[in-house]
Amino acid sequence: MNKFLTSSIGRKIVMSLTGFFLIIFLIVHLSINLSLFWGPNAFNEASEFMATNGVIQVMQYILAAGFILHIIQGISLELKNRSARSIKYVVNKPSENSTFASRNMIYTGILVLLFLILHLWDFFVQLKFVGIGNLTDYELVTNRFSSPLFTAIYVIAFVLLGIHLSHGFQSAFQSTGANYNKYKKCLKYTGIAFSILIAVGFSAIALYFSFIN
Ligand code: HEM
Repeated sequence: MNKFLTSSIGRKIVMSLTGFFLIIFLIVHLSINLSLFWGPNAFNEASEFMATNGVIQVMQYILAAGFILHIIQGISLELKNRSARSIKYVVNKPSENSTFASRNMIYTGILVLLFLILHLWDFFVQLKFVGIGNLTDYELVTNRFSSPLFTAIYVIAFVLLGIHLSHGFQSAFQSTGANYNKYKKCLKYTGIAFSILIAVGFSAIALYFSFIN
């Protein structure tokens, strides 16, 4: 098992499986957060359901493990690629052979990780461990966006996440999909559409509550 996880193909498969899992998490998380637009009752009810449902509670641990594995394997894959790339070719035009997103996966990934640490502190830790006093979950979330700096950091992070996903989505299929070549173009465009949906969907929430606050 250890040998598989440290082999080049093993690393890629772990990256793509955990990547799929995180893609599903993002769809669920965005759907729940969009209920903020339906007003306090809708969001507080969704939040209550997430906090009490047994399946969701178990999934949270699996989610945390998925994130950690994805990050560790991502960093180790990057380090391995770097050492393999230490002999540089003279005729190498990266901009012609790869995209901005694919060349910068490690950087967009690290920046999204920094956002995630901040984000868990802002909401998850406050709700689960610190306590939010008289505020409802809806008020906690919407009040945060009254700060333009907070909103700006969040929107920048969502754009970076979108760039990360625009390569990550199709890459996840490439590493595991047997029929990848047949659907290459379709997956590429689906990946781009998905990335835009995630970046725009989360940003719309941040910007809307920033403007009405
Ligand atoms: C406008 C955008 C977002 C809002 C308003 C938001 C809101 C929240 C809230 C309220 C929680 C606490 C849920 C609870 O514990 O009951 C939470 C948790 C979390 N968020 Fe976000 N989130 C946003 C974007 C994101 C993005 C883009 C990511 C991933 C890159 C993310 C990852 C997480 C994770 C991993 C957790 C902890 C697990 C969980 O409680 O579901 N969030 N978020």
